[in-house]
Amino acid sequence: MQQQLTNRRVLLGVTGGIAAYKSAELVRRLKELGAEVRVMMTPAATEFVSPLTFQALSGNPVHSQLLDPQAEAGMGHIELARWADLILVAPASADSIARLAHGRADDLFTAVCLASDAVRAMAPAMNRLMWANPATRDNVALLADRGWAVWGPGEGDQACGEIGPGRMLEPLDIAARAAQLFETGLLAGQRLLITAGPTREALDPVRFLSNHSSGKMGFALAREAASAGARVTLISGPVHLPTPDRVTRIDVVSAAEMRDAVLDHVRDCDVFIATAAVVDYRPAQAAAHKIKKHQETLSLELVRNPDILAEVAALAEAPFSVGFAAETDDVAHYAKVKLNAKNLNMIAANRVGGVDSAFDGDDNALQVFWPGGDASISRSSKHSVARQLLELIAQRLRDRD
Ligand SMILES: Cc1cc2nc3c(=O)[nH]c(=O)nc-3n(C[C@H](O)[C@H](O)[C@H](O)COP(=O)(O)O)c2cc1C
Repeated sequence: MQQQLTNRRVLLGVTGGIAAYKSAELVRRLKELGAEVRVMMTPAATEFVSPLTFQALSGNPVHSQLLDPQAEAGMGHIELARWADLILVAPASADSIARLAHGRADDLFTAVCLASDAVRAMAPAMNRLMWANPATRDNVALLADRGWAVWGPGEGDQACGEIGPGRMLEPLDIAARAAQLFETGLLAGQRLLITAGPTREALDPVRFLSNHSSGKMGFALAREAASAGARVTLISGPVHLPTPDRVTRIDVVSAAEMRDAVLDHVRDCDVFIATAAVVDYRPAQAAAHKIKKHQETLSLELVRNPDILAEVAALAEAPFSVGFAAETDDVAHYAKVKLNAKNLNMIAANRVGGVDSAFDGDDNALQVFWPGGDASISRSSKHSVARQLLELIAQRLRDRD
């Protein structure tokens, strides 16, 4: 199943109708499509289904009280409103529809709906005469006019024993319609593991060996991959960058820590992109105490660090493995050698050390190689370069399937 709702945040509003029991299944359907789901309930809805059911299914606390200091200290109504990409009201009761149409904000549910500019959709469910009543018709028309998507209701047997229009659509149908509201990203549902930044290899408690990597390329890739619908885990060395939205970040310091973190997560990924500038050699021994400057000269014995990328690419069930080659000269040659030697699926080469060095700048240019092909990505912002590289990766993944 393509996870069209990966990284999408769906706030499910459950209101007081008998169809509320079907919303429990809706949570599952939305999650199957990759969505992160939070649930808010009207007080009436909690009389139909226990919040505990929704808490267990969504994996998140359920929100139902507006004037609750504890709830407000956690995720308050404005925060919840901001959090959502989609507010989906299912079932939407006649009463809730009326209150939404009149801009009420006297409970958490209506306050959140009023305070949000998220995409909004509802699946009404009520007795056929409630649905046919001109008051409900006008309220629904008003909300549709204001941009609410109105799905259903369906026709058929009703819980009240009558037959007619008013049944909530089936959860599978509602979830599919929710997915259609969003563009399917290039990497929808793919799991990406990205390393970024430098590593630090301790000489003593206060000094280390490292390099100039800023982490910007890896962070740009993580952000763009998440926007393209991927689930992204970013393993980062010490950098001064904020974590991109919807990305899980793991901080490490040394190459050994980075290797451990990668090996812990690599089995759950489809694509591994190694942008980190892992320090090649570390001191054979890190001094336990600060090294004093008694001697005129000081020799360091260095030992080679593990090659994380080669190790990943050599796994029996290796993910699609992408390396970065930072070279000062003969960039294309060394990149191709690395592609073959490490048995990679792709390598992106950039020049470092010159006037247009890739390290620390906001721009980059790449030469990309894969077995049997290559492409150039001309100089532009690291975000634009990241998008183009991800397109190449997505293409290669499609060709492989
Ligand atoms: C057993 C029962 C079933 C109900 N089913 C519905 C329903 O399917 N749709 C609806 O609009 N109202 C239904 N109601 C009425 C609502 O629960 C009532 O209007 C309530 O105020 C809705 O509050 P809310 O919109 O804040 O959740 C039902 C009431 C009862 C007692």
